[in-house]
Amino acid sequence: MLSQQDLKQQAADAALQYIAPMLTSDAVIGVGTGSTADLFIDGLAKFRGKFRGAVASSERSAKRLTDLGILVLDLNEVQTMPVYVDGADEINAQLHMIKGGGGALTREKIVASVAKEFVCIADESKLVDVLGRFPLPIEVLPIAREAVARMATSLGGSPALRVGFVTDNGNQIIDVSGLSINDACALELALNNVPGVVTNGLFAIHPADVALLATQSGIRRL
Ligand code: A5P
Repeated sequence: MLSQQDLKQQAADAALQYIAPMLTSDAVIGVGTGSTADLFIDGLAKFRGKFRGAVASSERSAKRLTDLGILVLDLNEVQTMPVYVDGADEINAQLHMIKGGGGALTREKIVASVAKEFVCIADESKLVDVLGRFPLPIEVLPIAREAVARMATSLGGSPALRVGFVTDNGNQIIDVSGLSINDACALELALNNVPGVVTNGLFAIHPADVALLATQSGIRRL
């Protein structure tokens, strides 16, 4: 019986195998945030010198990359990336995701938007029929915290401020539980339009292109 950690490692290894043909001397790789992305970063170090560098979706991942001797570029210096690799908190069969459990959702969405392909890596426990059991993170400007929380309540959710947490962008996170998300694109769009919302953790309008999900019997590719 493989542990969850083994499964995360398996997903990270599968992503390294998947992106290996994309590694050229001028390639810049988009790198996500979280415990599964950390394992991907560690593996990426073995390919050091075979690609130009990486754009990170958080300060935490940038530090891990730098510590391993991988060049970290600012997204503004990069016009295109073949791939962005990141974990997810939930993913469904349409490859819509909830992300942001680690609070890096805004930079994750931005970096992913510049990459040609989004590869989601996770253990199979992240695969769900309907998104929403994992509380949906919303990054808000501090001034809008209460207004956004009231709006989330009006949508049927239960908002909770992530106490003591400040994002890399200096903002706060509201985690909204109790949502049963049947139309993820519509909800993502609606939340994007609420004043004070920086980003919401739904990745549905631009879902993953490929999911490499680690199971007890090997990698399941969606
Ligand atoms: C970070 O903000 C998140 O989007 C992570 O990608 C997500 O929470 C998955 O993290 P784990 O790989 O640690 O489960």
